[in-house]
Amino acid sequence: MNQINLSGKVAVITGASRGLGRAIALSLASAGAGLALVSRDQKKLAETAEAVRKLGAAAETFAADISQEEQVLRLEKEVMAKFSKIHILINNAGINIRKPLTEFTMGEWNQVLQTNLTGAFLMCRSFVPRMKGLGFGRVINLTSIMSHVALAGRSAYAASKAGLLGLTRALALEVASEKITVNAISPGPIATDMNAPLLQNPELNQQFISKIPLGRWGKEEEIGRLALYLCAEEAGFLTGTDIVIDGGWCAQ
Ligand SMILES: NC(=O)c1ccc[n+]([C@@H]2O[C@H](COP(=O)([O-])OP(=O)(O)OC[C@H]3O[C@@H](n4cnc5c(N)ncnc54)[C@H](OP(=O)(O)O)[C@@H]3O)[C@@H](O)[C@H]2O)c1
Repeated sequence: MNQINLSGKVAVITGASRGLGRAIALSLASAGAGLALVSRDQKKLAETAEAVRKLGAAAETFAADISQEEQVLRLEKEVMAKFSKIHILINNAGINIRKPLTEFTMGEWNQVLQTNLTGAFLMCRSFVPRMKGLGFGRVINLTSIMSHVALAGRSAYAASKAGLLGLTRALALEVASEKITVNAISPGPIATDMNAPLLQNPELNQQFISKIPLGRWGKEEEIGRLALYLCAEEAGFLTGTDIVIDGGWCAQ
């Protein structure tokens, strides 16, 4: 992994304020990529940026709600004003609302779909054209094991993540001639804020661990390293697919 060199490359990472987005930022920074870090929480983003700079990489922060079209269009202008070229887009920002389908309000349903699916569409529409003509481009979408299997209480999340995998495949075909690859990472349970309700409840936590064949939660850095691999020149023949990294969950 230490041989992967992304110096001279610039990556836009959404949801970089914490969790997997932060881990991916640190991983790409360790390979020398310049980073445009995006989320709504400017203060937390600044902390990620500081950690990135300590690794010797350039980082700029951008506050935006990626579920809002006008904010993504503004973000595109702001990012392009700071970085003249964009080589990598990591669509990581995502939310989950866990409840039975029949209890979802329209607002809650829209919030999940707008963030997890429409947000990725808006980001791709703004930034993928910037990769054209560079002879290199990488899009990585954070999907989920819920793109493949389901759990009760995850209808909006599973629908959004299955949709995002479909978007991944279609976009990969649209931009393959430009040597832009489009892939997804489908994690199983990783110990981040998103899973705080499960991690903080000893009974639910134990139930979850007992469903993971490897018997533990995944670590943020494990996703960071996989994202780094997908960004490498060596991963140039990999497109239109996802890599499931789930401790064996989907093999059952
Ligand atoms: N953790 C897991 O077990 C797991 C498993 C499978 C897939 N995933 C996926 O991996 C991704 C990252 O998950 P995580 O566990 O790191 O989640 P997390 O800790 O809850 O972090 C989510 C990130 O997304 C950002 N975000 C949320 N809504 C946003 C919006 N509208 N606009 C801009 N940024 C927004 C948040 O930043 P702000 O609040 O600052 O905006 C935060 O940085 C998600 O897409 C998630 O679905 C996670």
